Amino acid sequence: MAKTIATARTLAELRGHLAKWRKAGETVALVPTMGALHDGHLSLIELARRSADRVVVSIFVNPTQFGPREDFRTYPRDEAGDVDKLGKAGADLIFMPDVVEMYPAGFSTTVKICDLTNDLCGAARPNHFDGVATVVTKLLIQCDPDYAVFGEKDYQQLLAVRRLVRDLDIPVEILSAPIMREPDGLAFSSRNVKLTPAQRKSAPVLYQTLSEIARDLESGKGCDATLVKARFKLEAAGFRVDYVSVRHPETLKTLEGPVRQARVLAAAYLGQTRLIDNVPVPLKD
Ligand code: PAJ
Repeated sequence: MAKTIATARTLAELRGHLAKWRKAGETVALVPTMGALHDGHLSLIELARRSADRVVVSIFVNPTQFGPREDFRTYPRDEAGDVDKLGKAGADLIFMPDVVEMYPAGFSTTVKICDLTNDLCGAARPNHFDGVATVVTKLLIQCDPDYAVFGEKDYQQLLAVRRLVRDLDIPVEILSAPIMREPDGLAFSSRNVKLTPAQRKSAPVLYQTLSEIARDLESGKGCDATLVKARFKLEAAGFRVDYVSVRHPETLKTLEGPVRQARVLAAAYLGQTRLIDNVPVPLKD
């Protein structure tokens, strides 16, 4: 049976719940999200539940990680649906602050990660990772969790968060969860609802293409040839490619020639909707 889930909208409310749990000696896992929850988010909550006694899910569409021409205003929001899903998923608390609670008047601090964030998504979205780093730092200080869970779907974000936590000595263990996909391979994303039926049909080509690159690399082919072929395939399916790239799985440095261990990452638009995805080399399945 789904339980009625507690909601905290202020930092004071959040800390009230946390204090009770801490007094009882319970461990806490935080799952930061921007809401419009889907099965990818729910898999993170599942991992959080297996790892800690209490699970806090934050829902905050963070304005500082969106550029001026990006979709902050139209980002999907579904508070009632999210509350329902989180009750069923067995989370203990939803932290749903408003923008003023997170960024009171006069807010003037930014956390900047200088390595890892300049290219790939950082190139097309110049201040994006500053916004992510700042809000994630705030959430980690606000919740002071034992664990925080992030998805491999946002692979560059995951590495950036690991670096931030290490550099700032934040006492939390970052857990990562694999990418959850629709049966046709499309990675779950809150933005998928924005795709037209025709775009939705083309969307799985992104994952197919990344998997093909991974298989090419596994069979000893060089990066350049397979990347040219991949770009062509994506464009033929109607994508406007932002990047498709073969990177070192930890440093995100560009790799060339034949490689055995890598991460293949891409971002591409279908109409106005920007999709991102990535796969490991070697492919696990
Ligand atoms: P959001 O896009 O809501 O994603 C929240 C978390 O869910 C991230 O860690 C993301 O990697 C993970 N996730 C999204 N789709 C997934 C999928 N298909 N499979 C597995 N995990 C998936 O990422 C953000 O929000 C924000 O940048 C945030 C970290 C909350 C800071 O504002």
